[in-house]
Formats: sequence, structure tokens, C-alpha cells
Amino acid sequence: MTKQFDVIVIGGGPGGYIAAIRAAQLGMNVACIDEWKNTQGGPAPGGTCTNVGCIPSKALLQSSEHYEQAGHHFADHGIGLKDLSIDVSKMLSRKDTVVKQNNDGILYLFKKNKVTFFHGRGSFLKAGQGGYQIHVAAERAETISAAQVIVATGSNARALPGVPFDEELILSNDGALRIGAVPKKLGLIGSGVIGLEMGSVWRRLGAEVTILEGLPAFLGAVDEQIAKEAHKAFTKQGLKIELGVKVGDVKTSKKGVSVAFIDAEGAQQRLDVDKLIISIGRVPNTTGLNAEAVGLKLDELGAIVVDDACRTNLPGVWAVGDVVRGPMLAHKAEEEGVAVVERIAGQHGHVNFSTIPWVIYTSPEIAWVGNTEQQLKATGRAYKAGTFPFMANGRARALGDTTGMVKFLADAATDEILGVHIVGPMASELIAEAVVAMEFKASAEDIARICHAHPSLSEATKEAALAVEKRTLNL
Ligand code: FAD
Ligand code: NAI
Repeated sequence: MTKQFDVIVIGGGPGGYIAAIRAAQLGMNVACIDEWKNTQGGPAPGGTCTNVGCIPSKALLQSSEHYEQAGHHFADHGIGLKDLSIDVSKMLSRKDTVVKQNNDGILYLFKKNKVTFFHGRGSFLKAGQGGYQIHVAAERAETISAAQVIVATGSNARALPGVPFDEELILSNDGALRIGAVPKKLGLIGSGVIGLEMGSVWRRLGAEVTILEGLPAFLGAVDEQIAKEAHKAFTKQGLKIELGVKVGDVKTSKKGVSVAFIDAEGAQQRLDVDKLIISIGRVPNTTGLNAEAVGLKLDELGAIVVDDACRTNLPGVWAVGDVVRGPMLAHKAEEEGVAVVERIAGQHGHVNFSTIPWVIYTSPEIAWVGNTEQQLKATGRAYKAGTFPFMANGRARALGDTTGMVKFLADAATDEILGVHIVGPMASELIAEAVVAMEFKASAEDIARICHAHPSLSEATKEAALAVEKRTLNL
């Protein structure tokens, strides 16, 4: 007899495991199936985010930032260091420990919330009277069923055509997080989020890093003024970023990787590196889901087709996170997962797609929410802009980190905040205030009138809001 659940979640990444926990909170009998294996073959729930994404990348960004600070900035504070060194294997094992803490945390949360966890691959068998039958391919294979199924199977790294990942020389995000020794020369294709974060890690540790980017504009989705400031900072740090290139043949040999490319001026060039990270985006993952068995509709890119509420073409089947349209972000996946379960429970789950924050965890960090200035110009919306540089912020000076600015964009007539853009220290934390403000449809003046602690980086946010009416107090 098949085990019957109220809800089956396929995929235990941020979209899936959060959906499962919320479903249990709402009193549903829920199963979550995830196939990720740790190095011992045991369960490692948390998906891309926990295993080869958000968490390990931030662990390495932190380690490499400490190294950079110790090597280049401690002396400013009067701290002397002799024989500074980096033990890459220790750094990687710390990262693995952080990942394991997160895997174990999710298993604990499943237990606490009485979510039934299956370690294996889930696939559709058929639709029947009790809902959908899902086959779990595991050590002890079994079939379970539920009237409601949430698919949260995530995404995989996109490969360059004809250049498969070998994770030794040609690396996806997985291999990029496991490089065993600092390469002398590291190449990256794609100067998006992964390119910049991973490029920063290995540059800080001493690699000569070159990023080849296809588009002529740097970080095209970011506010142009912010992107320009970030580009200046990264270039000064020593990241080589070649924009507007056309990548040609990629050849591997004992010596490393050789990439032929045409530069922005049309000249034929070659980049020889020890390792090459390909970071040109990700593709939705429905491998092994057996979507055809039940007629689950995919689009031409392989994403599961959903409406705004994450409903698929099949009654009772929902899909969330990287496997559907929209930004491939962990917090977007989580919000969708919660909203779907609340809809199943008859509540009014909602995701406000226009206030999803973005963060790039480089140094300086880049964070934003809402419209960019170029988007407002393109739509003809009348707006006012205000900026405030961290150079004029007391806390930033005390931290010794004064790169960047906060920028506000507000409606010209109503003063409603339309977008907030930050490049600078702790932008990832500062952006939360802007998200709250936009959720509550605040005006720039609302932020300008709120008391912010002194000295704090958040005062730069207040000052940028004041700058919208040209009345900064510290500039
Ligand atoms: P996933 O996290 O991919 O989880 C899907 C899970 O489903 C996986 O465990 C997979 O094994 C499992 N699965 C798939 N098919 C099946 C099946 N048939 N049966 C059982 N299990 C299955 N986002 C951020 O917001 N912030 C960041 O800082 C950030 N950093 C990143 C850094 C890197 C290097 C990368 C690659 C990504 C990063 N992301 C970040 C993106 C983030 O990881 C994804 O947006 C997020 O993981 C998507 O969550 P998900 O639940 O949709 O899918
Ligand atoms: P991306 O979409 O951020 O960047 C890909 C870059 O590669 C783009 O600039 C694109 O123009 C370029 N590109 C594409 N094809 C190319 C080619 N053939 N030659 C040269 N350049 C090419 O994708 P990325 O960095 O792979 O990351 C994938 C996703 O993972 C991100 O979009 C994001 O959703 C998520 N992520 C989020 C992070 C965060 O929130 N901090 C960190 C890392 C990843």
C-alpha cells in the first residue's frame, strides 16, 4: 500500500524544505524528498544553496576577506603580522563544516516539525484517484502519494556548448568551491554574480584572475551608476574584467586551459589559465522527474510553466524556486514555497516580486531593490534621485571602508521610493531597511525622518533619502 500524504515536496533546497516546514506548521501531513548526497553518501538537504551555492560561497568569501584584511589593511590599524599564510585545505574544511551544520540543521527542523524525509530521487508515476503517485528511488524504493505536489527541483550550472565540466580544469560552481590550491592564473567566463564572487575569493588569495564577459556593459541589471562604481573598485583591486568578448575554442591540456576569444575591438586573443570557471547562468533542473508521465508542462528552456501563484498546468501540482521563471535566488524560492503552502491551506499566500532584494557579496558589496535609474528612464517615469557616499559616513571611516554610496530613487510627484541601490560595506544588511520601506510604500521623506543610530552605516541610507530633497546634513 502506498503511503498517503497531504503534500509531497520534491526537492529539499530553500524552496522545498521551507515549503515542507510551513506545510507542517499548518497541520498538513508532509513528505519532502531530496536526493543530494554528502561525501559519505548520506543525506545533505538544503539544495544548491546549502551545498554548492549561497552558504559555501559566503564561507569562502569570509575566509578570503580575512586574508585580504590581514595582508593589506591590518597594518593601518597598527597590527603587525609576520609570515602571513593561507592553508587552503583548512579553509575548505571549515567551509565543509559550515555546510554540514546547515544540512544537519535542516534534518533537525524536519524532525522537529514532523516532516517525513525521504533521501532519494522523486519522480511522477501517475495521476490517480488519491492524487499523484510519486516513486522514490532510494536504497529502499517506495511509492508515496498525495493530492498536492510541490516541485522544487532547482537548477544546474549552464555549460558552454561543447565544453563539459570536468571539475578539474573546467569548473562549475561546484568545482569552483573545491579548488585545492590557489591557482596562479584563474579564468572565468561570465562576470555575473558567481563570476564576481568566485573571482574575488581566488584573487584575494593571490590568483591572477581574468573574467571574460560577453556583454559590453558591466552588470547590466544593476543601476548604471552603482555598476560603474563597483567596476572601478574591482579593477583597482586587480580583477581583470574584459567586456564585450566573444568566446571561441576552449582547449584543455596538461598545462591548463586555453581560451580563444575575440575582444571588444575585434582582435583575436587567447587567455591561458590553470583553471577555468564557467559562470554563464543556470538552467532549470527537471532531470529524472518524469514530468512526461503526468503531462507536466515545461517551456522551451526546460523551466516548469507556472502562473503568478506557482500553479502548473496540472491541478494540485505547484512549482517554486529556480525550476520556474523569475530570479534564481534562495529567498525568492523560500517566499514562493511559503506562499504555495498557504494557498493550499486556503490562505492568501503572496509574493511581492517587485521588492525582492538582490545582493552580490563582493567587497564592496552590491545590493538593490526595485527599479534602476535606467529602467525608470526607459519607462518615462518622473523620478528624483539622491545619493550619499560612504566617504562622508563616520562609521565607514572608522571601519576603514569608505568605498561606494547609497542611492535613492523616488517618484517625482509622490516621493514614493521606487528603488534603492547600494555599493559599499554591509550593503547586504543595509538593503533590508529599503525592502521594508518599499513593502510599506514609504516615501523617501519617511526614511529621512526616522532616527538612525550614530555612528552607523545606516546613516548613509538616511542621508541618501535626505539627498532626494537635496538636504543632506553631512555633505
Ligand atoms: P535548489 O537549491 O537547487 O534545490 C533543489 C534540490 O532538489 C536539490 O537538493 C536537488 O538535489 C533536489 N532534486 C532535484 N531533483 C530531484 C528529484 N527528482 N528528486 C529528489 N530531489 C531532487 N542565492 C541567494 O539568494 N543568495 C546567494 O548568496 C546565492 N549564492 C549562490 C552562489 C552560488 C555559487 C550558486 C550556484 C547559487 C547561489 N544562489 C544564491 C542561488 C541559490 O542557490 C538558488 O536560487 C537556490 O538554491 C534555489 O533554491 P531551490 O530550492 O529552487 O533549488
Ligand atoms: P549570471 O546570470 O549572474 O551571470 C552570467 C554572466 O555570464 C552574464 O553577465 C552574461 O552576460 C555572461 N555570459 C553568458 N553567456 C556568456 C558567454 N557565452 N560568454 C561570455 N559571457 C557570457 O549567472 P551566474 O553568475 O552563473 O549565476 C547564476 C545565478 O545564480 C545568478 O543569476 C543568481 O541568480 C544566482 N546567484 C546568486 C548569488 C547571490 O545572490 N549573491 C550568488 C551567485 C549566484
